[in-house]
Amino acid sequence: MSVLNGNQETSPTGIKVVIVGAGFGGLTAAIECHRQGHTVEVYESFPELKVLGDIISFGPNAGRIYRRWSNGKIADKMRSLSINLRNYGFRIHKYDTGEVVTTQKTPEPDPETPVFNGHRGELHSIVFNYAKDELGIPIHLGHRVTQYWEDEDQAGIILDDGTKVSADVVIGADGVRSKARELVLGYYDKPKSSGYAVYRAWFPNTDMIKDPRTKEFCENGDTFNGWIGPDVHFLFSTIKNGSDCCWVLTHRDEADIDESWSFPGKLEDVYKVLEGWDPTCKAIVEKTPSLVDWKLVYRDPLPRWVSDKGRITLLGDSAHPFLPTSAQGATQAMEDGVVIAVCLKRAQSKDRIPAAVRAYQDIRYERVRLVQKTGETTRDMWHKADWDKVKEDPDSIHLPREDWIFQFDAEKKANEVFDEVVRKFL
Ligand SMILES: Cc1cc2nc3c(=O)[nH]c(=O)nc-3n(C[C@H](O)[C@H](O)[C@H](O)COP(=O)(O)OP(=O)(O)OC[C@H]3O[C@@H](n4cnc5c(N)ncnc54)[C@H](O)[C@@H]3O)c2cc1C
Ligand SMILES: *[C@@H]1O[C@H](CO)[C@@H](O)[C@H](O)[C@H]1NC(C)=O
Repeated sequence: MSVLNGNQETSPTGIKVVIVGAGFGGLTAAIECHRQGHTVEVYESFPELKVLGDIISFGPNAGRIYRRWSNGKIADKMRSLSINLRNYGFRIHKYDTGEVVTTQKTPEPDPETPVFNGHRGELHSIVFNYAKDELGIPIHLGHRVTQYWEDEDQAGIILDDGTKVSADVVIGADGVRSKARELVLGYYDKPKSSGYAVYRAWFPNTDMIKDPRTKEFCENGDTFNGWIGPDVHFLFSTIKNGSDCCWVLTHRDEADIDESWSFPGKLEDVYKVLEGWDPTCKAIVEKTPSLVDWKLVYRDPLPRWVSDKGRITLLGDSAHPFLPTSAQGATQAMEDGVVIAVCLKRAQSKDRIPAAVRAYQDIRYERVRLVQKTGETTRDMWHKADWDKVKEDPDSIHLPREDWIFQFDAEKKANEVFDEVVRKFL
């Protein structure tokens, strides 16, 4: 018997996978496990699907993954909700004078590796509905996982109502405040403040188009502008043909936070940061109905993502939180999902599952660590910009577009290296 999964026929592997968390990491792992022929179920604490968050980025290395789902149908849906900067590019301003120092052109789109920047909740709904309705993957909402367990032959979870669920493998894709992480590591891993926070907002263009100072951003399709200052940057984009507006302001914030979380923010605090800036920035911020104050946490790389017996693993933000300046957090969570699904398929027999799970960590670990670092290097490149040098070499403050990150094919790579890597763990 074989299962039809959109774009290929796969024979069932007989491996049962339980995934905790239906974010982009957990859902991608579920979809890819289904593609590879595993039996998969998802448990998620939120009681219903809600359109939450604001801007999120997926690089070309995520686009390649999306393209493989239902012959590009999912990628096409994502594309129509995402920013289109082919005409406008990315205009980088000096924060005080407002002058455009450089315009970074948008590369010719490659149909095999589309990029998506759009509303997190809208894009999430597409992936969620694809997994649930089109592929028929069971996604159990309103179930908080309180415990994880494993023995030599099995692993599983215990839900808040006491129900025990067993599987061959459990994937803890439960986000930056992961419970699975604590259980895998055996200790509570306290997040540190990164020293920065982000004020962020998403709103319709209604008031923007009424104001002659701001209407240019909404009248001619999508736009993307950044104002770079000392230890601070402000990014503003318009999306869906200029109809939605979104800004993020990353600034110093040493507040001692217990966990990465968002609080309602105050416009007066934003105005304080913007004192002495190009007045366009305040003209944009004034139109904001409500905003979020998002503290950015930092964690040292975890020593390992996989449990003692090799049947529980972390994936996505639970294993490796990213700074937004890398613009790769969700993309790397997706790559994790692709790789674990390939490794389990290549395990071939059930007694090799722990080795396959360890191979997943081995294949992912170093790449993730290197991509994570780009979050700091990009931030520092902007925050420490020397404007005399930038004027001589404007490209030096462009957003990095590195082939080793963007051209990567996680599925191909995992298939290429699996046999060699798994040998270390057999
Ligand atoms: C509500 C929300 C809004 C976000 N908004 C943005 C945004 O605007 N921009 C941006 O760049 N990033 C945002 N993120 C983060 C972004 O989605 C992730 O950084 C990235 O996609 C990696 O995803 P992930 O699947 O690893 O983790 P997440 O997306 O955080 O998903 C983890 C999931 O696990 C669930 N979960 C946690 N604990 C349990 C438990 N014990 N039992 C069952 N389920 C559990 C959570 O409810 C959540 O749905 C947001 C995340 C969330 C949850
Ligand atoms: C985009 O918006 C402009 C007005 O701002 C409108 O003239 C144009 O038709 C819109 N394009 C699409 C594809 O909706």
